[in-house]
Parts: sequence; structure tokens; C-alpha cells
Amino acid sequence: MAAKDNKPTCPSYNDGAAYFDMGEHTLRIPMSLHTENRRRLQERLKARGLGGGDVVLLQGGSDSTRYSGDADNVFQQEPYFHWAFGALEPGWYGALDVASGRAVLFCPRLPEEYATWMGRIRTPQEYRQRLQVDEVRYVDEIADVLREMTGQAGTLHTLRGVNTDSGKTTLEAAFDGISRFNVNNTLLHDEIAECRVYKTKAEIEVLRFATRVSAAAHCSVMRKIRPGMKEYQLEAIFQYHSYYHGGCRHQGYTNICGSGCNAATLHYGHAGDPNLRTVGETDICLFDMGAEYYGYTSDITCSFPANGKFSNDQKLIYNAVLKASKAVMAAVRPGVSWVEMHRLAYRMMLEALKEGGVVQGDVDKMMEVNLGSVFMPHGLGHLMGLDVHDVGGYLEQYPPRPTPAGFRSLRTARTLEENMVLTIEPGCYFIDHLLDQALANPEQAQFLVPEAIARFRGFGGVRIEDDIVITADGMEDLAGDTIPRTVEEIEALMAEGQQEEVLVPQLHAQQKLDQ
Ligand code: GLY
Ligand code: MN
Ligand code: MN
Repeated sequence: MAAKDNKPTCPSYNDGAAYFDMGEHTLRIPMSLHTENRRRLQERLKARGLGGGDVVLLQGGSDSTRYSGDADNVFQQEPYFHWAFGALEPGWYGALDVASGRAVLFCPRLPEEYATWMGRIRTPQEYRQRLQVDEVRYVDEIADVLREMTGQAGTLHTLRGVNTDSGKTTLEAAFDGISRFNVNNTLLHDEIAECRVYKTKAEIEVLRFATRVSAAAHCSVMRKIRPGMKEYQLEAIFQYHSYYHGGCRHQGYTNICGSGCNAATLHYGHAGDPNLRTVGETDICLFDMGAEYYGYTSDITCSFPANGKFSNDQKLIYNAVLKASKAVMAAVRPGVSWVEMHRLAYRMMLEALKEGGVVQGDVDKMMEVNLGSVFMPHGLGHLMGLDVHDVGGYLEQYPPRPTPAGFRSLRTARTLEENMVLTIEPGCYFIDHLLDQALANPEQAQFLVPEAIARFRGFGGVRIEDDIVITADGMEDLAGDTIPRTVEEIEALMAEGQQEEVLVPQLHAQQKLDQ
């Protein structure tokens, strides 16, 4: 509650501001980012023939607790709602009148005791000023306000569609009284997902910031790593760096910090294998972590030797992956097929592996039997934005998911266009069961050099993952040149880091119990 003159006696940091930031050292985001997104959606819907009486209705995310307990999960906004409106709290709805572009938000009417436990209750007027919409009303007024917006014969357009990465269905708006409205849930999803594929200048700015925060945090990890540390301690360095220095409270996905053989597990680091191994002196490390800022994520992988000096084998595999990465970066531009880029990555990697004596024979023939998928069973990369694997990969009008191994893991088969943001993340892994399958398949086995394959079992793998935006004539690496990528650059950074002191963990519960 405010004091009598309605001035808050204890304002929060961003109260009164029509922007978001996490302090002056972080990126300031104007709410015009969302105005622009709504305008683009409005235009698309108008082009589909929508207009008078058509209203888009999105529902934001809800509060949740940890299972049946009352500990709150830190709330993260539903991405479609965030994209359109920017409200960061739970329990909201947003409406957009297609004909006029009028935007109305609905916030929950909070009980007085909210102020005791959760802090000052903002007024709709404050929210209107902060979020730069036409109006903010309470959720309990939603049916009346929407009726006024649609008129008697108009239609609410709600979001219903399946995410082609997770297979899950989107959150579709519902409220008491919606059954009295005409509702169309067949049109909005593909139109808004298509809008999300193309990032605006303001969105690219946010993604660039998140990417650079991550890049710096990865560099910090490379400087501070010492064999003998736990993988999770390096995860902690990344989290500390990106939150303390970059204001990034969240990461876009579970942190993958695989050392040694764990570097061959594509999505290592989950609850069953929580980055718990002790990093060995001669290990390769594959750390895939991406800080998230204002809901927009980054997704970066750095691979490097734990002791700071690449062995010959590590160099061979690393340079094979780097060759693929560089070739793809040089080739991407509007009009290029992402599937072709995946193919190019395979070819480049196989050429380098042949030079290194890991595979043998004719590379064209290797391509015919899809040998690349033995070493890189995942897709070359994916759209990235509010979701790490961002939406719009397989909308109806675009090429369907390819079927061959590796290619079928691509999260989109689209042709690249300006302002798409993607990851480029070739990798080369030595995964026992895939090697066994290939050795048992005469078509593929003829190209494998058995002694080399045996030598690399247990090696782990290398992934190099960068975040890029497609430009008019090529691409921009969102990290600029802030990530060391060549063997020499990595070794130089790590050598520098080895001159610095690192904190040795102090508190040890077991020691205390033993005393
Ligand atoms: N970090 C998950 C991915 O690279 O797609
Ligand atoms: Mn990725
Ligand atoms: Mn990744």
C-alpha cells in the first residue's frame, strides 16, 4: 500500500520506470519492445482477414509451488504472453484488439495481506505506465471488458498449438464466462509463432546481451578451472558470473558440464547425473550453459582441455568440429537451407576426421551412408529466443522434419531468413552404442579405422556452440569475438587464468560431523 498521498514509502527499484533492467551495469529494455511485437502480430492477423471484433487473448503463467509444499517456485513468465506484453508477474491476461491495436492487460486483484508477505500492491495505473499498454484492468473484470472489445458478434482468438520440440500443448486462455464468447483457437498459434521466428532489433539487442554475459561467464570458467574440481563447481562459477555481473537470474536450460567421458552425453547434468564428477587432469571438458535475461536466453558451448593444454587427440577432434563451425558460419545467409548446413557440417567434419586417421575412404561415399550421424547424432542447431529451442521450427507451410539419423534431430528444416536467431553447434562425440552400431553395419564400418575408434572410446566429445543472427548478406555472431575459439586462443586464456588464485571450497559438512 502507498502512504496517504499515494506515494510509495518503499518503492521497488523499477517502480515508475517504463523499462526493465537489473541495474546500470545491465541492459535497459524499453517496453516498446512489446509494442512492436504486438504491432507485428496485429499486421499479420489483419493480413489474414481479421479485423473488427477480433480480439487476441493470451493468458500469462500461474504461480506454482514445489509439489504439495508451499515453497514457491521462482516464477517465470509464459513466453508467448511475455513476448506480447512484458508483464513479469503471475496470474495475468492480455488482450489485443486486432482492428485498432488497443492493448488491455488484466492483473489479479490482490488481497490486502499480500502487502504484508509479498510487498506493496501496485495499482493498475502504475502497471499501465510501466508496461505502456492502453489500459490495465483487474482479472475479475475480464468478461465485461472483453465483451466491450468484441461486441456481441466478435471473436476471441486463443492460443492452441503443439510445441514441436516438447510435444506439449500451449497454455490456452480460459476464464469464468469464456463459454459465452465466440472462441477461435485454430488461427493464432501459427501466426504468433511465425512472428516469434523473426527477431526485432530490440529483441536482438537483448539476445546479444544474454549471449555476451554467457560468453564472459564461460571465459571465467575457463580461467578458473583446475583439475580436481567438481563439474558442479564450474557450473557454480558460471551461475555466479552471469548473475552477479550480468543480472541473469536464470539459465535457459539445465547446465551441461561434462568432463572426460561425460562430454559424450549430449544432455548430461540432469538430476540423475548432476555434474558431480571430479574433473581429471587429462580430460576434455564440454560445458554447455546459457544465461537468460528478461526471458531471452543464450545457448553457448565451450569445449577445452581441463589442464589448459590440448593433447594431440583433443586437438584433432576440436579442430574437426571447428572446421565444421567455420564452414557453416561462412555459408549461412538468407535463402540457404538449414538441412544443407547440417550436411555441410558432416562433410567438413568427416574430411577432418579422415585427415586425422579416424575414418578412411571416400568422403562422398561416407556421406551416402550418413556416417556423420555416428559422430554427431544431434541437429546442427536450432532457432533461439524466449525458448532455447525456439518456436516456429516446423509450421505447416515449411519443410517437414527430415528422416535420416542426425537430420531428424534438427529442430527446423527451414530456409534461413534475415533476423532469424539460431545456434550453430556442430559436435563430435564417441558414444559407445553408436560406434557399436556403426561397426556392426558393414556399409558404415568400412569407413571406420578400428584402432582409432578403439583409442577414442571414453574420450568424450567436443561441441562448439555459437549464437548467431542471420543478416541481409550473412550472419552476426552475437558474442562478437568475446569467446576464444581456436586452440591457441583457448590455451592463451587458460594460461592467463592459471596465474590467478582460485577459491578452495571451505565449508565441509562431513568434516564438521567427523570432528
Ligand atoms: N543446450 C541445449 C542445446 O544445445 O540445444
Ligand atoms: Mn543449442
Ligand atoms: Mn547448448
